[in-house]
Parts: sequence; C-alpha cells; structure tokens
Amino acid sequence: MNPEQKKVRVLMVCLGNICRSPTAHGVFQKRVENAGLGNIIEVDSAGTGDWHIGREPDPRACSAAQLRGYDLSPLRARQVHSTDFESFDYILAMDEENLRNLRALCPPQYHDRLQLFLHFAGDDVAPRYVPDPYYGEEDGFQLVLDLVEDGADALLNHIKRHHL
Ligand code: 4NP
Repeated sequence: MNPEQKKVRVLMVCLGNICRSPTAHGVFQKRVENAGLGNIIEVDSAGTGDWHIGREPDPRACSAAQLRGYDLSPLRARQVHSTDFESFDYILAMDEENLRNLRALCPPQYHDRLQLFLHFAGDDVAPRYVPDPYYGEEDGFQLVLDLVEDGADALLNHIKRHHL
C-alpha cells in the first residue's frame, strides 16, 4: 500500500444519531476492519438534531446489531458540527430530510461531499433511503440493518475503486 495514502474520512448522519447512523457507523467500521483498511478509512457518525447528545445508541438498535455481530455500545451521540464539512470526505445522509438539513448547514464549496448513504448501492437497493425506525416496530430495525449492510458493501467498493 502507498505510504503516502491519504486518509478517507466518512461521516454517517441521521436525525438523532441513536438508531440509523450509529448502525451505519458500526457496520461500516467492521467492514473496514475486515478489509484491513482501518488505518486508511476513518468512520464517525452524528445527528442533525441535538436531543440525544451524549447518549448510547437506542437499545433496540444495539440488540438488533448485536445479533448480527456488530457492537454499537461504545458509540455516543453527537450533533453535526460546522467543522465536519471540511473534515470529512463523505458526509452521508440516511434520508432526504437529513440531506436537506445538511445542505442548509454546509458551506457551498463542500456540497459535493454530501450524498445519500444508499446512493452508492445503485439501483439494486430499494428504497434509496434508510427509513426512520424510532417510532415504529422492531422489524424497522431489521430493515435498517438490511439496508445498511448493502449500503456499507457498496460504499466500501466505491472507496476502494476511487481512493486506493
Ligand atoms: P435516528 O432515529 O435519526 O435514526 O437516530 C431517531 C431518533 C430519535 C428521534 C427521531 C429519530 N427523536 O425524535 O427523538
């Protein structure tokens, strides 16, 4: 591997940073580690809202993730910060509302860093957004994991093709 390899920094974003984006953070982090790329790809997550700052991920997200071998327990919620737009190469929204909120905060020169997380999965994955499971039933968290696993595979392939 090129010793000059620049780090690739990825920020997963949802509304509360306790359900979808920590799931995407934990799943993608594990994909990155399994690929031996932990020293090159950095992963973080944040919410557009401030209600849950400092909290652990939702227990329903943690237990659904645990059953598939992902440990979300070390993660703590934080809010998107203005410095994130210059710090991260990929700022990936779980749904269109998150993306709109990010666009409103992001300086114009960094708008090309904003994208839907599922954008990289192409037409194979429907829907193109990760639905908010917070007020829904348990199976919403399974759908989040199904979509996030597909999105994480696609994102890792994209980064390998374009950066490594
Ligand atoms: P997330 O889910 O955006 O996937 O973390 C939510 C968590 C909390 C709330 C909404 C969505 N809330 O309204 O508090």
